Amino acid sequence: MPKHLISIHDFSRDEILETLSLAREFEKNPRQPILSDKIVASIFFEPSTRTRLSFETAANRLGARVIGFSDIGNTSVTKGETLKDTIKMVSNYSDLIVIRHPLDGSARYASEISSVPVINAGDGANQHPTQTMLDLYSILKTQGKLENLKINMVGDLKYGRTVHSLLQAMSHFNPEFLFTSPDELKMPVEYKEYLTNLNIPFSETKNLSKGLDDSDIIYMTRVQRERFTDPIEYERVKNFYSLNLSMLSGCKPNMKILHPLPRVNEISQDVDASDHAYYFEQAENGVYTRMAIISKLLGK
Ligand code: CP
Repeated sequence: MPKHLISIHDFSRDEILETLSLAREFEKNPRQPILSDKIVASIFFEPSTRTRLSFETAANRLGARVIGFSDIGNTSVTKGETLKDTIKMVSNYSDLIVIRHPLDGSARYASEISSVPVINAGDGANQHPTQTMLDLYSILKTQGKLENLKINMVGDLKYGRTVHSLLQAMSHFNPEFLFTSPDELKMPVEYKEYLTNLNIPFSETKNLSKGLDDSDIIYMTRVQRERFTDPIEYERVKNFYSLNLSMLSGCKPNMKILHPLPRVNEISQDVDASDHAYYFEQAENGVYTRMAIISKLLGK
């Protein structure tokens, strides 16, 4: 059975730390064509800039060739082909599949059909484990540790898959969480129960200014317009938060602002030049962590 990365729980704490160490080696020396005999399939049923391009960069840096699609309009999905048949075909053509799909659980389903490793590049509002790996790498690089940090997650905690994966990954490292969101977009109950069962402290607020000064990481998120069934509800919450430079004056010197990107209005552009802003470097870290994940799943 191939090893997959569908949920962050598919990697143990030790495997996560091993992957982060490997990413550090790839960052020191990114040109390592150790997979020149491999083909990576990149199949994106939903739009992406960072995840797809950083995966494809990672595969190219490793010497692998990349096939795939980023627009299902050019595929036989438009003729009614099922996900099952698509995955069966693609796993015959490639050594590893990277999939993004709008349905929760679709990546797990793909892994049950595929004869080659499957990496979940985001399934609906569920999980985005490779984003989490680069988030952890970014936290480790900026804080020098993963343990005992106060993480303030802000924005769309209901539909934002990145916060769900990150919460689970950080649970290995004795964190404290603050969840900052409007009532409509609170962290789902199952994730709060998960933390309660592990005795991990968390609190919730609607007030963005409340938790800024004692946070080590402020993890901003975009309101996920594409997940709303009611456009009026989206209109009501879309501009609920906007973090600007003047709000950061009392923050801890080590505090870094992360964001999986793309951003809309939730971080003002005047924050970009601040020492606290780390979201563009964070996106660059995606190449090294994805190199580590691909090579690990292909046994190199
Ligand atoms: N962070 C992230 O998943 O970005 P993309 O949607 O651009 O891939």
